[in-house]
Amino acid sequence: MKFSTRAVCAALSAALLAVGVQSQSTFSPAKPPAIPLGVKSPYLSTWLQAGSSNPGNLVGQWPTFWAGQITGWAGLIRVDGTSYAWMGSPANVGDPVTQTDFEYTTTRSVFTMNVAGKVEMNVTFLSPIYPDDQRRQTLVFTYLDVAVQSLDGNSHAVQLYADISAEWVTGDHTAIAQWDYTTSDSVASHKVWRQEQLQFSETNQQADWGNWYWSTGNSASLTYQSGADVDVRGAFSSSGKLGNTQDTNFRPINQDWPVFGFATDLGDVTGSINTVYTLGLTQEEAIQFDGATGVVPLTSLWTSYFPNENDAVEFFYGDYDAAAAAATTFDNKVASDSVSAGGQDYLTITSISARQAFGTVQLVGNLTKQYLFLKEISSDGNVQTVDVIFPFHPILLYTNPALLKLLLDPLFENQESGQYPNKYSMHDLGSSYPNATGHPDGNDEQQPLEECGNMLIMTLAYAQALNDVPYLAQHYNLLKQWTQYLVEEALIPANQISTDDFAGSLANQTNLALKGIIGIEAFAVIARLTGNMADASNYTDIAHTYIDQWQILGVAQDASPPHTTLGYGLNDTHGLLYNLYGDAELQLGLVPQSVYDMQSTFYPTVADEYGIPLDTRHNYTKSDWEMFTAAIASQDAQTLLISDLAKFIRETPTNLAMTDLYDAQTGGWPINAGDFTARPVVGGHFALLALNTVKDRRK
Ligand SMILES: *[C@@H]1O[C@H](CO)[C@@H](O)[C@H](O)[C@H]1NC(C)=O
Ligand SMILES: *[C@@H]1O[C@H](CO)[C@@H](O)[C@H](O)[C@H]1NC(C)=O
Ligand SMILES: *[C@@H]1O[C@H](CO)[C@@H](O)[C@H](O)[C@H]1NC(C)=O
Ligand SMILES: *[C@@H]1O[C@H](CO)[C@@H](O)[C@H](O)[C@H]1NC(C)=O
Ligand SMILES: *[C@@H]1O[C@H](CO)[C@@H](O)[C@H](O)[C@H]1NC(C)=O
Ligand SMILES: *[C@@H]1O[C@H](CO)[C@@H](O)[C@H](O)[C@H]1NC(C)=O
Ligand SMILES: *[C@@H]1O[C@H](CO)[C@@H](O)[C@H](O)[C@H]1NC(C)=O
Repeated sequence: MKFSTRAVCAALSAALLAVGVQSQSTFSPAKPPAIPLGVKSPYLSTWLQAGSSNPGNLVGQWPTFWAGQITGWAGLIRVDGTSYAWMGSPANVGDPVTQTDFEYTTTRSVFTMNVAGKVEMNVTFLSPIYPDDQRRQTLVFTYLDVAVQSLDGNSHAVQLYADISAEWVTGDHTAIAQWDYTTSDSVASHKVWRQEQLQFSETNQQADWGNWYWSTGNSASLTYQSGADVDVRGAFSSSGKLGNTQDTNFRPINQDWPVFGFATDLGDVTGSINTVYTLGLTQEEAIQFDGATGVVPLTSLWTSYFPNENDAVEFFYGDYDAAAAAATTFDNKVASDSVSAGGQDYLTITSISARQAFGTVQLVGNLTKQYLFLKEISSDGNVQTVDVIFPFHPILLYTNPALLKLLLDPLFENQESGQYPNKYSMHDLGSSYPNATGHPDGNDEQQPLEECGNMLIMTLAYAQALNDVPYLAQHYNLLKQWTQYLVEEALIPANQISTDDFAGSLANQTNLALKGIIGIEAFAVIARLTGNMADASNYTDIAHTYIDQWQILGVAQDASPPHTTLGYGLNDTHGLLYNLYGDAELQLGLVPQSVYDMQSTFYPTVADEYGIPLDTRHNYTKSDWEMFTAAIASQDAQTLLISDLAKFIRETPTNLAMTDLYDAQTGGWPINAGDFTARPVVGGHFALLALNTVKDRRK
């Protein structure tokens, strides 16, 4: 006789209920490696570590910055005179509430709590994404909405508490924090900042400048207090209210840990009542940029829309209903598009990726000229890395291609004003975000073939999306210069690294050559669109000659089944041929369908538990490239890639914001724990949706 797992589980949970053991939280659609709490920019990036080896409860552990250090955020609730904790790991303030459910959507993380069988709480973290609303997108702010209602039909006296610590204001916890308390008619705020502002500087990846605003609704039922964590939380847990006092002993963050608390008396609660909090960072200046006129500071774009910080704070707070409605619209769009493109497993992937992707970029500039800057989070902190923008860019093609132009513009501006000496495309605009100060010495990381191909492909993809031919004409000379480089170097690639630099350098990389050849054909299209017919015909001839030779050089014809190789002539090697995506994305028709079909037949033969290895050198894979590959694969291969990545999200033992580089056999860290977390490239998980957007446009 064979027991079904489901029957055993049902019997077990019945037994647990019978003895009164608390059931564990359910997770839907998955328990991801880390749950986004406040994720809005490179510096507002706080997560709850979850993963298969972790309970995934909001209470019992501290929220952390993406890099792992604690960003103190605590929640308490008092019901009929008894205090409980619902967020963080505060000591001696009552038992934890019971988390019964967690659910994530594209913009929200929602926890359901049962407080002693008496009241229910819905705790919603909403980090809004506004792809086409610059005024709102530019605010580096996030919402926390706590709804409370009776669970047993009786009314209960309820007071609600939440605080942040000063750990948000810099990664140097020996630095001195300063703070203030401000109110308007509708909003009350604790303002907290690093006393010594270090403009454009980071410690442990956190910003050392700007002001943090932790706010809630101002009302007669609100009390506040700043002070040592034990004092402020202790005051609430014993009395249900705070002293309306400010601690004026500005001190190091780790000295008697100053926290900034709000307590709201909800009175006698039966029906659902909600309390909204907001948390955000205001920096007047956000980026240093080596543009056409040399290095200049760029202002955060919100400063063009709001006269001052307080106005920004009040606007964001008062905008909650509109934000929630817009978030629901966006959630629903991603949900229906994802499910129809690739099923529920695909939605499991896209909906956990959107906040992480948009949380790596920041809008700066003014109403005349805007830029979008991107931080290559965790892998090395570079600014505007071209081969990171490339895997990221599908999410912009899907949500708003105009944002892609704002990412490319600074790269063009720097190179066209003669500030980069090499004839190929630069790798990045600066080694350390937020300093986009360029590489006037030309000594950036060299990925010449990769970046020339990326720039050509992305520039055309943007121009096709918005029919912006003048943009192509404006940048024609530099695009042609990069194409000439590709004509010399793409077919027989020299020994060099590709974007997958961690995998090592190699000559004659099949996938890299393909990107270069596609780049040449992209330029032929650019030439045709801009009326440069001689160039159009010359470069398309070259691209077609190259692609014919590439099919001989890069394919193991006698293998069973045949497949492209990692490098020319290395017939027992293989890899994900993700650069083929460019041919489909730009609708070039350069590469024969037989190549697509050959790869689709081959991939399932080398699949591991959690995906298809990146190439034969290692057992790890890359989630972004898997989704690029899935987007252009046959139905069977696509379903396999999607279901394996969704399985990784459900089962990975990693505990930080999603890594895009993981061991395809174990779902664990492939090299060092913590590498490759929270990176922008998960924007590439939207590759299927971007391709559908392109196809819809062509209809
Ligand atoms: C929590 O959300 C669920 C589903 O929307 C709803 O039925 C319930 O009433 C909410 N609870 C509270 C406390 O608002
Ligand atoms: C950026 O440059 C400034 C000097 O202009 C420096 O103080 C700061 O530390 C740099 N930031 C990073 C992250 O390296
Ligand atoms: C807007 O930004 C651009 C680019 O940084 C700058 O050249 C221009 O002077 C700015 N305009 C105003 C009104 O500040
Ligand atoms: C075609 O392009 C190649 C590479 O840039 C160049 O060397 C050649 O002169 C061009 N031919 C014509 C006819 O323009
Ligand atoms: C690269 O491939 C070409 C064409 O097959 C070959 O001539 C050359 O020797 C290869 N280079 C290396 C370093 O293997
Ligand atoms: C690799 O396979 C091709 C046919 O696909 C064959 O021409 C070539 O000789 C093989 N190379 C090696 C090193 O076996
Ligand atoms: C992949 O993992 C297997 C064990 O599962 C090991 O034998 C093999 O050496 C690994 N391959 C590489 C390229 O690391």
